[in-house]
Amino acid sequence: MVIEIKDGKQVREERERAAQALAHAAAHESAKEPEIAQSSPAAVPESVARDAAEGGGAKDAVVPDPFGKENYQRMKSLLKERVSPKRFAHSKGVAKTARKLARAYGYPDPAQARMAGLVHDWDKRYVGAEASARADELGVDVPESVKTSMPWLLHGPTGAEALRRQFPELGEAVFQAVARHTSGAKDMTDLDMIVFVADLIEPGRTFQDVGAVRDEVGKVPLEDLFFQAFKTIFSFLVQHDRLLHPDMVEIWNHYAVRRPGAHKGRLSSTPDPKLNE
Ligand SMILES: [Fe+2]
Ligand SMILES: [Fe+2]
Repeated sequence: MVIEIKDGKQVREERERAAQALAHAAAHESAKEPEIAQSSPAAVPESVARDAAEGGGAKDAVVPDPFGKENYQRMKSLLKERVSPKRFAHSKGVAKTARKLARAYGYPDPAQARMAGLVHDWDKRYVGAEASARADELGVDVPESVKTSMPWLLHGPTGAEALRRQFPELGEAVFQAVARHTSGAKDMTDLDMIVFVADLIEPGRTFQDVGAVRDEVGKVPLEDLFFQAFKTIFSFLVQHDRLLHPDMVEIWNHYAVRRPGAHKGRLSSTPDPKLNE
């Protein structure tokens, strides 16, 4: 795990630079509008056009601080319109928990973590065939088996792509964390791990074993905490005969072998002798 240490001044400067770039891009975009109007309406997927009508992104409003209070309130209001009250409460819980984790682990931008937590379930309203259609509309690259057999995992990647198109000011780090919150990845960043863990342990979650992960916050390194969270989810899926995203075994192996004291033969083709005892 690599933690890039930045002080508050550096983070503020980066945000200011991003805001200036955004203002420049927005001005440039409005100058191009007649050109856009001439393009074929069929080029805009239906659900994407609906999203745009529900709340504009950078083209409609220049956001001085994408992770500041004002934009947080704005995104919260937009989210409330697109998810159930239960999901909305969960999202607020994930946002708070993500900020708490960011502070506990010295992540340089807790406000960014809070925003990523807030919007992680942006596309949760698309279920079943609708979720698969959404993935096709947005051109999201996901295994065909996930689209056909596990559409409930699609809201991460589709939500990330929808947010990228509508709110580019949130930035790639946030989009990646949103995309990865459903099944993880082998190269999780600190922000990816924070959102993944926060999704599992936010105060509204009550299912078995979540307490054990909560108890470890701040006591173990962030990667260990992520591993515990991943393990909890992996075990839950296996115990309940649920399907696994095809990448999950590879992700498990990748992180399991990095564990302190991992048995060297554990992941080789040679069975652990203890299994035959
Ligand atoms: Fe989710
Ligand atoms: Fe969630």
